[in-house]
Amino acid sequence: MSLRFHEIAEGDHRLLNPFSEEKFDLLARICRLAAGQRVLDLACGKGEMLARWAERYGVSGTGVDLSEVFAEAARARAAELGVAERVTIEQGDAGAYRAEPAAYDVVACIGATWIGGGLAGTLELMRPALAPGGLLLVGEPFWHEAPPPGAYESIGAGPEDYVELVGTLDRFEAAGCELVEMVLGDLDEWDRYAASQWLTVDDYLTAHPDDPEAAELRAWSAHARRSYLAYTRRYCGWGVFVLRVR
Ligand SMILES: C[S@@+](CC[C@H](N)C(=O)[O-])C[C@H]1O[C@@H](n2cnc3c(N)ncnc32)[C@H](O)[C@@H]1O
Repeated sequence: MSLRFHEIAEGDHRLLNPFSEEKFDLLARICRLAAGQRVLDLACGKGEMLARWAERYGVSGTGVDLSEVFAEAARARAAELGVAERVTIEQGDAGAYRAEPAAYDVVACIGATWIGGGLAGTLELMRPALAPGGLLLVGEPFWHEAPPPGAYESIGAGPEDYVELVGTLDRFEAAGCELVEMVLGDLDEWDRYAASQWLTVDDYLTAHPDDPEAAELRAWSAHARRSYLAYTRRYCGWGVFVLRVR
């Protein structure tokens, strides 16, 4: 998977997941965010969640993202919303990031559980940063129903990577976490996230016909579109799960 292709395809997105701004705001209210609280966002993308929450709810935050392009966009967004003093963005591998222990009221990883080698490993690496009584937020795919065997390679997931919702609950419990809330994305949000990338890539290729990776990027986008329509849209759900450590 090319990080650069994602940076191009998601160039027009603020949120890099099949989830609306309204639902991120709902999550903030579910977490009862209040001024002075601290939020850690691992794989923060363009920092939209952190910057918005800092602006609306007065929290401060730390975001970590591997992409320098996204990290720079996150810093710019925090500055644009006037919260740059309260939002720190670090570029690097969130899987190797050592956060201040027990310092954050909310620790989030929204749509990047590969940073810890899967859901269980990511929960493990999120926990030390969480203050007592705080909340973990995990954005994670799940199957509406298990896809046919041929789908996995196309989607780019292994048969064990994701499970149905109740199996996801089992995974949280096995990791010592209780599921206390959740907000799920819907099909329209999936379409906004996935389909809008087709046009963004097409616009990019029209403007940059000599890009040395143009053919690969076009093939990558065509595969993503076909796989989305054949499998992801039908079988794959996505949501943010709110957890308490037990
Ligand atoms: C699906 S996007 C989600 C971004 C953000 N959480 C959001 O909801 O807008 C996944 C993000 O993970 C970042 N990423 C991928 N591998 C990473 C790693 N090892 N450490 C930190 N960030 C990573 C990508 O650059 C991208 O911004």
